[in-house]
Amino acid sequence: MRVLNPDRRPLVAGNWKMHTTPQSGVELARAIVRAGPPDGVDLVLCPPAIAVTDVARAVVGTSIRVGAQNMHWLDSGAFTGEISAPMLAGVAEVVIVGHSERRADFGETDEMVNGKLEAALAAGLTPIVCVGETESVRDAGGAQALITAQVEAALAGIGSTAAEPLVMAYEPVWAIGTGRTASPAQAAEAIGWAREALSDALDAAAAQRTRILYGGSVSPSNARDLLTQDGVDGALVGGASLKADDFIAIARSAVS
Ligand code: PGA
Repeated sequence: MRVLNPDRRPLVAGNWKMHTTPQSGVELARAIVRAGPPDGVDLVLCPPAIAVTDVARAVVGTSIRVGAQNMHWLDSGAFTGEISAPMLAGVAEVVIVGHSERRADFGETDEMVNGKLEAALAAGLTPIVCVGETESVRDAGGAQALITAQVEAALAGIGSTAAEPLVMAYEPVWAIGTGRTASPAQAAEAIGWAREALSDALDAAAAQRTRILYGGSVSPSNARDLLTQDGVDGALVGGASLKADDFIAIARSAVS
């Protein structure tokens, strides 16, 4: 199983969500290459599925990697509209699993997330597994319990060797697309909870080598404060990843 980087090199991933066509996606990828990806940080672009192939071709010869935003947990079958890990494996290197928009808007359960993670790992993809609490859960004091439960459920039955390429993202639902970010201290605390849960679900060494990103309204103006926190290994960026200069500015904050 390939590991992107065993030393928790910072990773900044752009989740383009349902934005860009294959053509405008290629233009955005080229603009990101022109804007100058900094050394010392792994950059990943996650365009819509239909643009993955073209964007992957557009970044050939650069250090940028390409990922998908979702996939099915089975390899093939009568699942209209779905794509599977083996289909992605020849084209993408990374896949986002269990994003809160998938969980909330498309009924994705912890069991599905677990199946998707298993399938992604089996296909040699690097999964970015998302966890995070809603505002009401946080207000009720349940954030740690929920994050712990999500991590445990995602990793059920998956051993630390199989999970080696795993990347996680802590994305508080209340911070996604809202312009409200978690404070750097909140992000670091929650990522600490996720790492503790990883240690229980896998083992301490696996928890230490797993990169855990922060996501939720990351922008060039708040990235440095968030990404220099202990244990915050990078960012999963939505809105700001659609602007090449903003995305690269965030990537620079991860290494400066
Ligand atoms: P945002 O999205 O940066 O637009 O808040 C982050 C995400 O959903 O991954």
